[in-house]
Amino acid sequence: MTIQRYLTGITTTGTPHLGNYVGAIRPAVEASRRQGTENFYFLADYHALIKCDEPARIQRSTMEIAACWLAAGLDPEQVFFYRQSDIPEIPELTWLLTCVTGKGVLNRAHAYKAQVDKNTAAGVDPDADVTAGLFMYPVLMAADILLFKAHKIPVGRDQVQHIEMARDMAQSFNHLYGEHLVLPEAAVDESVALLPGLDGRKMSKSYDNVIGLFSPREQVRKQIFSMVTDSRAPGEPKAVEGSSLFQVYQAFASAEETQQLRQAYADGISWADAKQLLFERIDREIAPMRERYQHLVGHPGELEDILQAGAAKARTRATPLIRELRDAVGLRNLSSGAAAGKKDSKAKAALPSFKQYRESDGRFYFKFVDAQGKLLVQSGAFASPREAGQCISAMKQSQALPADAGASLADGVDAATVTAALKTLGDS
Ligand code: TRP
Repeated sequence: MTIQRYLTGITTTGTPHLGNYVGAIRPAVEASRRQGTENFYFLADYHALIKCDEPARIQRSTMEIAACWLAAGLDPEQVFFYRQSDIPEIPELTWLLTCVTGKGVLNRAHAYKAQVDKNTAAGVDPDADVTAGLFMYPVLMAADILLFKAHKIPVGRDQVQHIEMARDMAQSFNHLYGEHLVLPEAAVDESVALLPGLDGRKMSKSYDNVIGLFSPREQVRKQIFSMVTDSRAPGEPKAVEGSSLFQVYQAFASAEETQQLRQAYADGISWADAKQLLFERIDREIAPMRERYQHLVGHPGELEDILQAGAAKARTRATPLIRELRDAVGLRNLSSGAAAGKKDSKAKAALPSFKQYRESDGRFYFKFVDAQGKLLVQSGAFASPREAGQCISAMKQSQALPADAGASLADGVDAATVTAALKTLGDS
């Protein structure tokens, strides 16, 4: 089984609320501990620029959201946790994808189309208030995903179209330039709770009905006490169906605790007591995280260090892929191979290749494998990647094993096979 890579982008506008926590942050942090997976979480601050032109808000929100995810238990050692704008390969890939994407495809993207429909209905220019950023949104998002060869993208229904577009862009790119990109898939989890807000509608910034995730305790208490309920008096039995208070409680409580509250409703608990119970239950889960959150927000330098380390780690994946893609499309060093008449193979993978790596002894090695991945040559240890590289160059040039050893034939492989394999490399 190959490792499954999951990738999640978090747009850095606004301050996280309980709905974000229950619907996105908590399940994602749990999922980040799955065996056999690699998990990528990033702060989509380039995306934030599409909707927000207030620099201070972008910065503030980036800090709060980063602190939230860490406070909620995301372990940056175990996952890839980075800020989009720290990865220059993302805008670079955005351009490569832009050039393989039909404009007509982007015309059909929901976010853009919604704005056009609105303008049309209002009788103004269809593109009024539409920036090219909004139009290009799906391409930037595809670059986020494809750069890390992600397989699964956990998203809400509203984002599924974007994942399909990313998939189409990967397909177009591969069709033109060979198999370089992995086709991603949306993973829509229907089971995650949609939290109702203070007024009973879905909790959302746009309804202004949210409970802040790390607002001061007293403010959370006030907000919870302002939740709408019906007018049943203390002592009167209350219905759990349609009670948002009950639903929010359920999102935090164990099955047993939920059962107890159900009983209390039937026994006529007062709304004030029910709200106090809800407040205490939420606070029990959030309080320990709030401390870590306050610490991080109070020490932005620590946050910045974590993000920088995350970017360096993410770029160990991004840089080699971009190098490969630049070569694939022909953005090449002019001295590398005859530009004119050089025949581009769409089947790069079907060539013999050198694989350089570092062993746990801290030294550097390479293998030379044939098109099917069979080992032809195994190198000895080199003190530096440069020396390993020089030995590889010597092999390519002489089309044979170097006389001064440094590398040896694999079992059952003869020198003529190696020479033939090196020749196909030279000809490609
Ligand atoms: N567009 C996503 C949202 O609004 C955020 C996002 C940006 C994203 N890039 C992504 C999500 C890549 C998943 C993968 O929620």
